[in-house]
Amino acid sequence: MQFLDIFIFKSSAMLGMYLGEKVNLRALELDDLDIVMKHWNNLELRQYLNSQIPMSRQTERAWLERATTQDPWRDGEMTLAIEDIKSGEFLGSVSLFDISKQHKRAEFGIAIHNADNLGKGYGTDTTRVMLWVAFHILGLNSIYLITMDGNERAQKAYKNAGFKPVGVFRQGAYVKGAFHDFVIMDILKEEFFETYPPGSSVGNSP
Ligand SMILES: CC(C)(COP(=O)(O)OP(=O)(O)OC[C@H]1O[C@@H](n2cnc3c(N)ncnc32)[C@H](O)[C@@H]1OP(=O)(O)O)[C@@H](O)C(=O)NCCC(=O)NCCS
Repeated sequence: MQFLDIFIFKSSAMLGMYLGEKVNLRALELDDLDIVMKHWNNLELRQYLNSQIPMSRQTERAWLERATTQDPWRDGEMTLAIEDIKSGEFLGSVSLFDISKQHKRAEFGIAIHNADNLGKGYGTDTTRVMLWVAFHILGLNSIYLITMDGNERAQKAYKNAGFKPVGVFRQGAYVKGAFHDFVIMDILKEEFFETYPPGSSVGNSP
């Protein structure tokens, strides 16, 4: 490892509280707006997400302003930036939303923004770390997600991290001229704890 690599690794790792093997999850910052705008308006990326409508800089700034001031208990949502643990490159964002204090459950969402970074293991690692946060930090009991049936890459990444398919939400999405089913997946705290019991970490989280 070169001196510069060591310096970047250390400065990046010091910023984050939640580390995986490949990623560091940190708070989003308003400064992330430029890099978000660079890759977000891409139909290949967005075909599996909730909206395929182009997002203006103003809309994305408003989203970042909300995301950077969120409190999971007050706002029911926690969205973090995903960055490469070594280079510090911004990779995308990951969320727990519709967090219920009563039911101790939340929905999971993730997007790696740059198509060049897909299929490199970042999604699997990020999902594991965010589940660790959900169960070990927030004390939630179940996490669920919905993903379009054709999004095999996502389903594999989620299965790698411990999610199980539990049902189908029929024709829940209309994308590119056709209705698509959603696969529903979930994971319970007790299942995650089989691999990551209290006191364990996914990567090098303290
Ligand atoms: C879904 C997403 C987070 C997964 O993250 P990722 O870093 O790309 O995924 P990973 O590399 O960790 O794992 C992908 C798995 O699918 C496989 N895979 C990669 N490309 C694939 C493809 N085009 N088709 C099917 N499987 C594929 C990989 O081999 C890997 O499986 P394996 O570990 O069993 O070999 C990421 O692809 C993404 O953000 N996509 C765009 C937005 C999106 O779809 N978000 C999710 C909405 S529910």
